[in-house]
Amino acid sequence: MTLLDIVLHPDDVLTTPCKPVDVVDAAVRKLVMDMAETMYDAPGVGLAAPQIGVLQRVTVIDITPKDEPKENLIVLINPEIIHREGEITRYEGCLSIPRVYEKIDRSRKVTVRALNIDGKVFEITGEGLLAVAMQHEIDHLDGILFFERMSRLKKKRAQKRYLKVLEDLEYEREHPDEEIEV
Ligand code: NI
Repeated sequence: MTLLDIVLHPDDVLTTPCKPVDVVDAAVRKLVMDMAETMYDAPGVGLAAPQIGVLQRVTVIDITPKDEPKENLIVLINPEIIHREGEITRYEGCLSIPRVYEKIDRSRKVTVRALNIDGKVFEITGEGLLAVAMQHEIDHLDGILFFERMSRLKKKRAQKRYLKVLEDLEYEREHPDEEIEV
């Protein structure tokens, strides 16, 4: 498996809708395993193919809490939301928009139809965090970032915060060995 670089906002690949996968072949399975490894390493609860620069409708999710063994990998290929219920508001972050968290309104429960890693159609229903993660990742496949799910005021605040994060990341790259505290 290979650890992949995560694309950071702003980058056109993050706002371009992805193409459906034609056939779930060895190349797609390799992509899925590399994405899973990259998500676990980050660590994150979900990762979509555009976040590693691939414009295909592929996403991986694992909402297992931080300190528990990660063995609940969900692979969604060509996912579609076929049912929604209720409302939920939760803080969300995004591996492509690091260190920015905002409350986002989503459906509380969703059912998704997708292909699994064997290319078979299946359906999965998730509530709470799983529902949020599936909606967030499927948004990525449509080229939609979580800024677009925020009110104008929150979007402005989050974008301002992110500009500061980009400055911090640049500073940290330029000063890799510096101790901040003395
Ligand atoms: Ni994201």
